[in-house]
Amino acid sequence: MARLPDVSVARGLADFVGADHVLTDPDRCVAYGTDWTRRWSVTPQAVVRPGSTDEVSGVLGWCAARGVGVVPQGGNTGLVGGSVPNRPEQIVLSTLRLTGLEAVDHVSRQVTVGAGATIAAVQAHAGSAGLAYGVDLASRDSATVGGTLATNAGGIRVVAHGDSRAQLVGLQAVLPDGSVVDHLAGLPKDSAGYDLSGLLVGSEGTLGVVTAARLRLVSPLPSGRITSLLGVASVRQAQVAVDQPGVLAAELVVGAAMELVCEVTGLPFPLSGRWPYYVLVETVQPPDLPDGSDAVVDRRLWAYRERLTEAVATLGVVHKLDVAVPGHRLVDLVEGLPAAWAPFQGFVFGHLAEANLHVEIVGAAPDDDAVDERVLRLVAGLGGTISAEHGVGRAKAKWLGLSRSDAEMAAMRGIKTALDPHRIMNPGVLLG
Ligand code: FAD
Ligand code: MLT
Ligand code: ZN
Repeated sequence: MARLPDVSVARGLADFVGADHVLTDPDRCVAYGTDWTRRWSVTPQAVVRPGSTDEVSGVLGWCAARGVGVVPQGGNTGLVGGSVPNRPEQIVLSTLRLTGLEAVDHVSRQVTVGAGATIAAVQAHAGSAGLAYGVDLASRDSATVGGTLATNAGGIRVVAHGDSRAQLVGLQAVLPDGSVVDHLAGLPKDSAGYDLSGLLVGSEGTLGVVTAARLRLVSPLPSGRITSLLGVASVRQAQVAVDQPGVLAAELVVGAAMELVCEVTGLPFPLSGRWPYYVLVETVQPPDLPDGSDAVVDRRLWAYRERLTEAVATLGVVHKLDVAVPGHRLVDLVEGLPAAWAPFQGFVFGHLAEANLHVEIVGAAPDDDAVDERVLRLVAGLGGTISAEHGVGRAKAKWLGLSRSDAEMAAMRGIKTALDPHRIMNPGVLLG
């Protein structure tokens, strides 16, 4: 298609969203162009903030006609460089005005919300109706429904409720040509054709912009649930400790990371002894702990887990590798990591029940990704995935082939070309 003669991007976009919702001042745009880890930063030529699905549709159609790259952005809490541009001539499309929260449907235990609604807002909205939203993560105050669906975010309740994909009944999205996919009817079962909602989950802004979602809600967690922290001598002991009925959360912190979070936050060391591994487990009933465990019980223990991300970030720009392996290979991964991240320093924590670790490497230059490759190849060699919940982004796009076959890569590229022939959506992310 011949591209239309260009007009000023700002003026063109303002025709759809109004001049107040197009930012071009570099001093304001820079924040939208820098990701949470500060490892990626490119200031976009403009930030556009549509207030409706129709406005998103107009913006994408306009950009497709002119080949203007578009980076969808929610809370910008992503950790793989997927929410910021890789070239200044791209624009960021912020969903933070799409924050509608419809009334909770008690019959179906579902709710329809705007893509820009934060996880915390959805949790509060569900709570006010006596229900709960199944996803929880420490970035809840900024992370949005659209972003968590686009990355298929996991968080701390996957063992209890599943990941973001598991909460989705259907979504509304604008495809790169401006057309709208709409599956908000809340049908528990609908097998009429390809699952386009499911295709958008985990697409990291490369196939379209999620504008709304129909989410399933769950019963609130039992108010009497019990949070325990215990020290253990091995990964296998950690896995045994959380292999019990009624587990609502199961998190692992490897020794040095626990020392760090106490040092940075000033939290008192939580146990009487130092251990190579620490398990935070939340259970419906009092946990079955090994005799003589060095353990404490207190809901405030979550601070030791939830403040790890910020604690590691105080050490500089972190190479954050979110990976998962088959459960029986977790011990091999933990034992293999120090050799893989040498000569740098590494901290490890994560979601134990899913064998999903966050390998946080400090000391490597932001653009020196040799250490990233060593860790990802270790993971792949253990039958694991290079991304468990954060997505691939720009950070790991060149190693996607470690977790996807040639046939899968070809199929994904075919889908990308079919939906985004002008390759305007999030260039450089996921498929590179
Ligand atoms: P953004 O960062 O804005 O974007 C993320 C990706 O989604 C980008 O590729 C972007 O283009 C795309 N995107 C955003 N909105 C849309 C949309 N509406 N339509 C299409 N594409 C879109 N992640 C976990 O999985 N588990 C955790 O436990 C967890 N804990 C965290 C703790 C902290 C302190 C921080 C800072 C981050 C954490 N994260 C975690 C990472 C992050 O919160 C998630 O990746 C989250 O899904 C990002 O949501 P967001 O709205 O900030 O998306
Ligand atoms: C977490 O589980 O804490 C998050 O995924 C964030 C991180 O990995 O830093
Ligand atoms: Zn995580």
